[in-house]
Amino acid sequence: MTHEELVRKNDRLASALRATRQELATVQEQVRQLSTTPNTFGVIVRVNLQARTADVLMSGRKVRCAISEAVAAASLFPGREVILNDHMSIVSTSDFDDIGDIVPVTDFLPHGRIAVQVRDGEERVVRLAESLLDPAGNAKVRPGDLVRADLRGGFAYEAIERADTEELMLEEVPDVSYADIGGLGPQIAQIKDSIELPFLHPDHYRAHRLNPPRGVMLYGPPGCGKTLIAKAVATSLAQSAAELNPGAEARSYFISVKGPELLTKYVGETERQIRKIFYRARQRARAGLPVVVFFDEMDSLFRTRGTGRSSDVETTVVPQLLAEIDGVESLGNVVVIGATNREDMIDPAIVRPGRLDVKIRISRPDRGGAADILSKYLIPELPLDGDEVAAAGSRESAVAALIEGVVDALYTESPETVYVEATYDSGETEIFHVHSFASGAMLANIIDRAKKYSIKDQLRGLPGGISRAHLARAVAAEIRENADLPSAGSPDEWARVSGRRGARITHLRTLR
Ligand SMILES: Nc1ncnc2c1ncn2[C@@H]1O[C@H](COP(=O)(O)OP(=O)(O)OP(=O)(O)O)[C@@H](O)[C@H]1O
Ligand SMILES: [Mg+2]
Repeated sequence: MTHEELVRKNDRLASALRATRQELATVQEQVRQLSTTPNTFGVIVRVNLQARTADVLMSGRKVRCAISEAVAAASLFPGREVILNDHMSIVSTSDFDDIGDIVPVTDFLPHGRIAVQVRDGEERVVRLAESLLDPAGNAKVRPGDLVRADLRGGFAYEAIERADTEELMLEEVPDVSYADIGGLGPQIAQIKDSIELPFLHPDHYRAHRLNPPRGVMLYGPPGCGKTLIAKAVATSLAQSAAELNPGAEARSYFISVKGPELLTKYVGETERQIRKIFYRARQRARAGLPVVVFFDEMDSLFRTRGTGRSSDVETTVVPQLLAEIDGVESLGNVVVIGATNREDMIDPAIVRPGRLDVKIRISRPDRGGAADILSKYLIPELPLDGDEVAAAGSRESAVAALIEGVVDALYTESPETVYVEATYDSGETEIFHVHSFASGAMLANIIDRAKKYSIKDQLRGLPGGISRAHLARAVAAEIRENADLPSAGSPDEWARVSGRRGARITHLRTLR
């Protein structure tokens, strides 16, 4: 054998030997694995670093276990899943479990715990896993949030985001003031009286043992300023708060919730949302800022009562909302404002004294109201028709004259303004003119239209500036476009317009 042949043979033998050793090791490992007892998983409840022990939950049983030297005790936190050997020593950590029940948080409790709602309205206390605690040991979740919890182990592990729910609640710093609202002087005075007075003079109220109202209920036809007023209340409260507290910023929050959007098909979801809304309000209020919680289309939350559409809503949503409103008392900074077009649908429980007991009707504007509203939109600073200004003598007088023209066009009854004919169940008929359906929104829209006509004129090379002709065209266009609206209105609305409550309208005919 040559030297080279020997080297090759030696190599072959060596690699065969290596392969055999590898196989042996594999077999040995298999034998070892087959002969060891299965490992148990458990969840850490409490760790005692000094004693190097931990209390571990294993299928509902709590056991105090030793922590083996191989495990860094600092890596053990309550809620962490660990692996135990057959002597029940913790030999390694495992990942957090990633399945479980999704439950809503109802409350904070001391010592890293929270209350959650389980089935049938029952509540249970669970611990927050490390993943839900910030470094200072505070909970990262808030009441109303959803968490994934292991209810048997008694731990909440993870906040679950449900994308669609956050959007329900629109929170903003409002920018509408009472000065922007036209024609609702008495209503604004009433609101100031019932909400701002107690806010500014709580000591007087206390001395008289008079409980301030927790909120107001605004009702009336669409587009007449309910939302505007609610926002203005928030703005005004901010100013009052700043006056009481010189140096503080004049800020407030306006949390707006649409009733129908709150009613979701998930059982228990609506209650959770309500809880969340009021939690948010209280949180803001605690920081010293006034908060207005605005429930738009509030009737939808009560409509179901007694109609049998949903027993869930009937039995849980209304009482919960009432309970939350009752709870607002403890924080003078939160005001609840409800709005609806259907006062007849409001549950008496909600407007009971001590709740939204101030009921304010936001009516359609009359002549004077319409002129006032128009004056918020048609102002002397706008580009105005030169002839009109020259004839009137000043921009202010020109604006007044233009406004009068719009009001006349809308409110003076003529064949031009005939709108609909209603037939009552008695067979009588009644003709309604356009002004019976005037609203702030309609007036604002008329001015917007006129502005657009003026801009178009300017673009065409004409002098432009808002003119009588622009406004007349705008009124006509507005009437034309609203022609088929009444048929969509509710019969109750019609009865109210006609001023004959209780009289039933059987037929409506558009006369345009
Ligand atoms: N009294 C008013 N003064 C000035 N502007 C008004 C007034 N009422 C309505 N408007 C105008 O119409 C718009 C709609 O008004 P708002 O949203 O307050 O109506 P609403 O009563 O809340 O109606 P809805 O019942 O449909 O919610 C406002 O943004 C504003 O431009
Ligand atoms: Mg509104």
